[in-house]
Amino acid sequence: MVTNGRILIVDDEEDMLETCSAILTGTGASIATETDAQRALQRVCSETFDVVLLDIRMPSVNGVDFMRTVRPLPAAPSFVLMTGFPSAQTVEESARLGADGYITKPFSNDQILATVTRALVRRRLKTNDPSSPEPTTVTTFDGMVAGSRPMRQMFALIQQLGPVDIDVLIVGESGTGKELVARSIHQRSPRAAKPFVPVDCGAIPEHLLESQLFGHERGAFTGAVADAMGLMELAHGGTLFLDEICELAPALQAKLLRAIQERKIRRVGGTDLIGLNLRIIAATNRDIDLEVKEARFRHDLYYRLNAIRVDVPPLRDRREDIAPLFDHFLERLAGSMDRPPLRVESAVYDALNRYCWPGNVRELQNLAHRTAVICTGETAAAKDLPPSLLQESSTLPLDFLSKRALKVRDFELDYISELMHRYGGNIQAAIEESRLSRASFYRLLKKYGMKGHPQPAASSQP
Ligand SMILES: Nc1ncnc2c1ncn2[C@@H]1O[C@H](COP(=O)(O)OP(=O)(O)OP(=O)(O)O)[C@@H](O)[C@H]1O
Ligand SMILES: [Mg+2]
Repeated sequence: MVTNGRILIVDDEEDMLETCSAILTGTGASIATETDAQRALQRVCSETFDVVLLDIRMPSVNGVDFMRTVRPLPAAPSFVLMTGFPSAQTVEESARLGADGYITKPFSNDQILATVTRALVRRRLKTNDPSSPEPTTVTTFDGMVAGSRPMRQMFALIQQLGPVDIDVLIVGESGTGKELVARSIHQRSPRAAKPFVPVDCGAIPEHLLESQLFGHERGAFTGAVADAMGLMELAHGGTLFLDEICELAPALQAKLLRAIQERKIRRVGGTDLIGLNLRIIAATNRDIDLEVKEARFRHDLYYRLNAIRVDVPPLRDRREDIAPLFDHFLERLAGSMDRPPLRVESAVYDALNRYCWPGNVRELQNLAHRTAVICTGETAAAKDLPPSLLQESSTLPLDFLSKRALKVRDFELDYISELMHRYGGNIQAAIEESRLSRASFYRLLKKYGMKGHPQPAASSQP
């Protein structure tokens, strides 16, 4: 039972702290206590603890929010939550956030020793297991906020290819942040002090785009009253960002290919060749391989642009980024509205995590904006979200949730089997101990195929 390790006990009731430390003292662990959750938060961020034993209901910070703040930190401790008011919702919520144990007050010495020992063991397994998932650390990279593994890998790629003078193709759904990626690559290149010139190939009509890109000579067409430099010339020395490259008409694709290969252009209506020193970054939100296969996009231009490809993952494939991005946008908005950032109820994150985000980060940003405007109080609640989002997030197919569901399953199974074991299969006693409703308890038993004796049996009480 409990060997060495550092344990922090956080509870606003002094008596509770004394009881817990009395039980755990002498087990080989070193014990610290805090009645103030804010101070405890600071300690957990600056010291190393193996297990934090945490009361859920505390006046300054609620235990679940405490855990949500600390979990993403590198080397975060294991958590054991304590509550005098258990509910199926808090059990589920703490499991979802990755609590390693859950005990209901009042508890026996054995219970707390067993739970804390198990949390310590799990913590050791986690810190020694190289395959265990890395904790999410939120980083900001050239204005991009992310913590997920695919985004961190993408940042590493940008760091590598930024300084190398090679053309880049960025592929990702609409709103994933392709333009931010392009700007970041430019910023990290020796061209950073020179212009970054974005061109939206989808937004400009074909006949105008040509003269916009290549420029024109006076008299080249009606209205060409003077010579004009094109965007490619404007980008000389810097980076030309060709956004929505798949929208480029076939004739322009051919002209662009020639310009890229020769690094020379001829203005519309002109005869002189103008030499250019450019880096080209192209982006598309289409399936460009399909566009090439179906001959809508020239394969030679594709191969030319695709020297290096950066894929920006859709938001639904990096759900760890949702909450940090939402917080980031709320904070930024609060700054511009000159008020403190909204607090966010866990049910809001829950709904955001379940939604599929077809408009990716842009849609999330718009939602944060909407929430900041709509919400008049200090805390955003689920009711502040658009009904369409709430409805969709509640009907999300199960495979999206499978990872989370598995965690909850592990936790419920652990919890319920331990209770049943402790009370020798006496369902009534286990229900009383859990303080779950009869119906919830039976639902869990059925879910995990467990059977017991429905009647209390005096002998099975511990
Ligand atoms: N990781 C991020 N951190 C912060 N803001 C982001 C992030 N990713 C995207 N954004 C913001 O989301 C919005 C959409 O990003 P961006 O315009 O770069 O997307 P895009 O992929 O170019 O979209 P489209 O294909 O529609 O042009 C922008 O306001 C951008 O600032
Ligand atoms: Mg864009």
